[in-house]
Amino acid sequence: MSAILEVKTAVEGFRLWPGALDAQAQTDLVDAVFARLEAGPFYRPQTPGGRPFSVQMSNFGPLGWVSDPVGYRYQPTHPETGRAWPDIPPVLLDLWDATVGEPRRPDACLVNLYREGAKMGLHQDKDEADLGAPVLSVSLGDAAMFRIGAAQGGRTTTLRLDSGDVCALTGPARLARHGIDRVLEGSSRLIPGGGRLNLTLRVAGISPR
Ligand code: SIN
Ligand code: MN
Repeated sequence: MSAILEVKTAVEGFRLWPGALDAQAQTDLVDAVFARLEAGPFYRPQTPGGRPFSVQMSNFGPLGWVSDPVGYRYQPTHPETGRAWPDIPPVLLDLWDATVGEPRRPDACLVNLYREGAKMGLHQDKDEADLGAPVLSVSLGDAAMFRIGAAQGGRTTTLRLDSGDVCALTGPARLARHGIDRVLEGSSRLIPGGGRLNLTLRVAGISPR
């Protein structure tokens, strides 16, 4: 992978690599994602309160993040098919190594698909067994307005994430509140069927044998 440039952000520990993936790398990654969807199709999870997410989800890796009326958790199988999740595309593991410099390897990759009108409310990523490891996020397709603020509450900052941008929640920002206020529909033609794909790599727990 060629050298990728990190820019400084206003939120300590929130790291951003704009345009980390060039056009070819974005197309290749979308192909790698869609090739895995037959084995791990998108589905629409429910919140613990029983409301459907507007985002569709799947996962790659030994563990996948799920939500249903029982709660949030990581599990080794797809909740609708009962099958193991597909493997994490190797290029994402290379990206992890090239950016966050974290020796623990991710064992979970949440795949979020934002079709028309989908968004994600402010939340913290805190279901992982070890909250010391970073979360790395890859944006593909339509641009989105990403909101981030400190774990304790208070002011938030909004920035635009474009296709190919990579960012990470690390150190003091690991438990930052974050969400997607809105997707700029039609700003990209990358995703078959339109919309935005977001991939987040996490060190979720001890991988099952
Ligand atoms: C997430 O926090 O799971 C997704 C964030 C994003 O879509 O950029
Ligand atoms: Mn999150």
